[in-house]
Amino acid sequence: MTDKPYLVIPQPDDLLIDIEGLSIGFAGANGGAPIVRNFDLTIRRGECVALVGESGSGKSITARCLLNLSGDGAEVDADRFQIKGRNALQFRETDWRKLRGTVTGLVMQDALVSLDPLRTIGQEVGEVLSAHRTLRGRHTVAARVTDVLRKVGIPDPEHRAMQYAHQLSGGLRQRALIASAIAADPDLIIADEPTTSLDVTVQAQVLAVLAERVREGAGLLLISHDLAVVAGIADRVIVMRDGRIVDSGATADVLRRPRHPYTR
Ligand SMILES: Nc1ncnc2c1ncn2[C@@H]1O[C@H](COP(=O)(O)OP(=O)(O)O)[C@@H](O)[C@H]1O
Ligand SMILES: [Mg+2]
Repeated sequence: MTDKPYLVIPQPDDLLIDIEGLSIGFAGANGGAPIVRNFDLTIRRGECVALVGESGSGKSITARCLLNLSGDGAEVDADRFQIKGRNALQFRETDWRKLRGTVTGLVMQDALVSLDPLRTIGQEVGEVLSAHRTLRGRHTVAARVTDVLRKVGIPDPEHRAMQYAHQLSGGLRQRALIASAIAADPDLIIADEPTTSLDVTVQAQVLAVLAERVREGAGLLLISHDLAVVAGIADRVIVMRDGRIVDSGATADVLRRPRHPYTR
């Protein structure tokens, strides 16, 4: 394959996300034109890529599209759309479901709609664990649930595990959502404003948990409007505006020499 055998060729497996020329539109919306256009994204193992941009620039629909959660009427097209080396344009719903359950942890912007109102927080996180880890026995699962809840900064996790989403404050729900996203040690984490409703101390704790997963080899797509957070955790930054990439590069470069008024 190469005439330079000493070169380190990245393993295909290192590339978790490899997308080129992505467009996302909605039937009947935006005068028929796609909302996100010509979007490129790669995420490798052990890498955090931040997606920033003003409100309405298309960050959330892009994040959801990575898991085929764009919603009804979404029209998605791409020149290349590879997830873990597989062509996602040919995925069936069962492939997507498997991906969402095992490979990818997802933290959506709105914790209340993302958590199941009919299950306790402990059941929610426990289900992720029993489905994707070789944990045996209820005690083991319960102990691990408590560990994960404590890790994301939920005080008194034994008690909280028995509560439902509506019994928790916004900040605790947000942490419960993060707990269920990281419980199974996913390869890829997509986090859409994961710390927005959290106070500074808990925010730091949650970011440290995400950063630890990245050090352990996971890829992280972090959507945030907080450039201090981005500077602290991201390897690369992509700046979006009106559904397009207007700037991208190494975090320090993009934040130090912003080419676009938004980043400035
Ligand atoms: N289901 C949908 N149908 C039509 N337009 C949508 C839909 N979802 C989002 N949009 C539009 O896409 C644009 C980008 O939204 P979004 O990705 O949520 O922005 P961001 O997360 O960057 O604030 C917005 O103008 C929004 O109105
Ligand atoms: Mg958003």
